[in-house]
Amino acid sequence: MAERVTASAPGKLMLFGEHAVVYGVPCLVTAVDRRMKVSLERRRDKKLVIKAKQVGLPYYVRNIKEAGKGETPKPARFTEKLVANFYEQYGLSNGLEVTTDCQFSDKYGFGASAAVTAALGYGLSQLYGIKQTKEDLFNLGYRTVIGVQGVGSGFDVAAAIWGGTIYYIKGKKIESIKCKDHLLAVGYTGVKADTPALVRQVAELRRQEPLRVAGIFSQIKEVVEEARVVLEKGTGRSLGRLMERNQRLLRELGVSSQKIEDLIEACGRGGAWGAKLSGAGGGDCIIASVAEESGDRIRGEITQAGGGMVKVGYQAEGVRLESE
Ligand code: PMV
Repeated sequence: MAERVTASAPGKLMLFGEHAVVYGVPCLVTAVDRRMKVSLERRRDKKLVIKAKQVGLPYYVRNIKEAGKGETPKPARFTEKLVANFYEQYGLSNGLEVTTDCQFSDKYGFGASAAVTAALGYGLSQLYGIKQTKEDLFNLGYRTVIGVQGVGSGFDVAAAIWGGTIYYIKGKKIESIKCKDHLLAVGYTGVKADTPALVRQVAELRRQEPLRVAGIFSQIKEVVEEARVVLEKGTGRSLGRLMERNQRLLRELGVSSQKIEDLIEACGRGGAWGAKLSGAGGGDCIIASVAEESGDRIRGEITQAGGGMVKVGYQAEGVRLESE
């Protein structure tokens, strides 16, 4: 058993299938090379201390027995809940200090909360010498996300744990796929998406127009299945076309926004083969399939349209130990 450990997990980008994945349609998600690092240290007292400076929580303390109970400030919720779930599962009560250090802004929608649950769950299992499979870690992380947020398919937790690129079906399948080196551009709208609100908005639309929404979901499923093959062995051009098809369907679900559309148009002007929103919609990031030589033009167009390019690599490694 260690005195302290640091674990890290990657952020993610949804490639295809958002929203429909909540209702059992597959999605494709990739891990990005920006990581959430979580350092854990045992304490001699019975306190839980959380240090998360980047999200405005330099020092937060409570009794470990109270973790996950009552009111918790927003930036501490996932951490506290995961510690509470882990401690309950393994009958622990030791004091603990948790420090988070994130390589990406929580505004991008790269899945900071999912990454924190993955890195923290893994770090705790290392700290206390408890063996956990990836599936155990996933169940712990997903239960935590649902406990805090109430909604979500768990795709982001899977990406943070497994890394790489994943074909994901909620409750059924987490399958790693081998992707070609397609070039993706990522543009940030400057607007933070409210994922739970957008998921509820789609749920409401589905309640009002079940047949129309079922039709959209089944077309999204077709796009995802085709995209899987194209990611593995197709061209950037075909990938772009599929992004456009997926985006049309997301528009029909009402989750796009003017800013997203502006950035997608900017990508088109810059010579991208196709682009779509990535994640819940309403803001966050867009992704585009691009050729190497259009990179600079696309950057210029996105900036001109009021967005920002985010430089990320994808298919990054999943959760791992950084140091002991
Ligand atoms: O907003 P993000 O990046 O967390 O993505 C949400 C994706 C949804 O399909 C809308 C919800 C989910 O949990 O699958």
